Amino acid sequence: MPENYRALQGFKDILPEEQPYWRLIENTASEVASLYGYQRIETPLLEDTTVFRRTSGEGTDIVEHEMYSFDDRADKEGRRQNISLRPEGTASVVRAYLEHGMFKLAQPVKLFYMSMPMFRRERPQAGRLREHHQFGCEALGESDPAIDAEIIGMLYQIYTRLGLKNIRVNINSIGDSNCRPQYIEKLKAYYQPLLTDCCDDCQIRFHKNPLRLLDCKKPQDQAKIAAAPRITHNLCEPCQEHFASVQRYLKFYGVPYDIDTLIVRGLDYYTRTVFEFTSEIDNVALNGGGRYDGMAEIFGGPQTPGIGFGVGIERVILELKRQGIEPPAEPKPRAFVVYFGKTQDMKDAATQLTAELRQAGIKAATSYGERSNKAQMKQANASGAEFSIIIGEDELANGTLSIKQMQVGQEKTENKQVQIKRDEIIPYLTGHQA
Ligand code: HAM
Repeated sequence: MPENYRALQGFKDILPEEQPYWRLIENTASEVASLYGYQRIETPLLEDTTVFRRTSGEGTDIVEHEMYSFDDRADKEGRRQNISLRPEGTASVVRAYLEHGMFKLAQPVKLFYMSMPMFRRERPQAGRLREHHQFGCEALGESDPAIDAEIIGMLYQIYTRLGLKNIRVNINSIGDSNCRPQYIEKLKAYYQPLLTDCCDDCQIRFHKNPLRLLDCKKPQDQAKIAAAPRITHNLCEPCQEHFASVQRYLKFYGVPYDIDTLIVRGLDYYTRTVFEFTSEIDNVALNGGGRYDGMAEIFGGPQTPGIGFGVGIERVILELKRQGIEPPAEPKPRAFVVYFGKTQDMKDAATQLTAELRQAGIKAATSYGERSNKAQMKQANASGAEFSIIIGEDELANGTLSIKQMQVGQEKTENKQVQIKRDEIIPYLTGHQA
C-alpha cells in the first residue's frame, strides 16, 4: 500500500474487533455518569483557536507545539479566523455553558462527553496518539469540596465496574490565584541559582511556566525537583481547608488515594484540586482532572467554579487488555437462512424470510450469490448462528421451513433438524432457546 493511502502517523482506524471494548467503556461510563446526574453534551470539533489558547495557557506544550491550527477561508469582509481541532474538551464545554446561558439553570450543571476525538501533535508512541478519544465529565457552578470527592469517587466506580484492578488515584492541590503567585516566586527563587545546571526545557519553563519545572522527567533535574518547595505546603488557609475537606469526603467513596505533591498537570487552567488515576503497574495516566475555578471568567463570563476529568479511552482499552478483561462479544445471529437451489423463487423466499426476521427484531443472516449447499452450511456454521433455516425444493412447495439447531464447531447437526410451517417461524424463534 503506498504511503499516501495509509492512515496518518498517530491516527488509528478503530476496527470492528475493537468495538466491543469501546461499547463496554461507553456503556459503563454513561450508566455511572447518569447515576451521578450527568447529562450528555457534544461540542464541535473545531473552535476559534483562542478558546484553547487562553485557557490551556500560552506556555503549555499543547498550545505551543501540539495544536492543529489553521486559518479558515476568508469571509465576505476578507477576514480569516484562526481555528483549531480540539486538543481537549474542558474549554469547549465551558464555552458552551456560557454561550447557552447555563449559569441561569440550577447549579451545578453536570455534563459529560463520550468518545470525543481530541487532536494533539505529539510524538506517537504506545498510548500516545495524535488523535485520541476522551470520556469526560464537567461539573460547573459548584465549589463545595464534596463535589471534588464525588467526581473522583464516580471515576473510581467506573474503573471498578469495568473490572480493572490495581488502579490508584493521586491527588494534590495547586492552590488558587490567592496563594499560587507567592508560591511561584518561592519556586523561582529556589531554582534561580540552579538554573544553569537545568535541562534546556526547564530553562524555558522557568520563564514561561515555572510550575511545570516540577513535571520534568529528565534524570539531571530529579534531585532538584525532590528538594523543591511544594505548593501543597504553601496553600492559603481557604485552599488548605478545601483540600482537607476533599480528603474527608473521599473516604465515603472508598477510593484508595495518595497525595502526590508533584502533580501539577499540563494545562494552565487548574486551581486547587488536581488528580490523576494511573495503573499501578506502568504508571500510565488513564485520566487527568481537576478544578478550574477561573476558566469562565477568562471567557468574560460570571465567576463559575468547575471541576472535571478526561479519560483517555484508548489508554483504558490498553489497560483492560493488559489485565485480560474481555468485553462481552457482539451477539451472534439467531438464525442463518440458506437456500438449496438456484432458482429466483428460492432466492426470493430466502430474501423475504431474512427481511421478515430482521423486521421482527431477530438478528438474522443469509448467503449471497450462487453458493453450493455445502458452502452455505459452512457459512452458517462460521457465523455462529444458533439455527440455520433451510429453504429447499420441498420446503418451498409445502410452505414449510427446515430448522437445524447449530452446534458451533461440529459438522453433524442432522439429528437436530425439525420442520415447521413457514408462518410459525417467528414464534418458534422467539419462544425457543437453542
Ligand atoms: P489531559 O490529562 O491532557 O486532560 O488528558 C486527559 C487524558 O487523555 C489523559 O490522562 C490520557 O489518558 C488521555 N490522553 C491525553 N493525551 C493523549 C494522547 N496523545 N494519546 C492518548 N491518550 C491521551 C485534559 O484533556 C483535561 N481536559 C481533563 C479535564 C477535564 N480536566 C478537567 N476537566
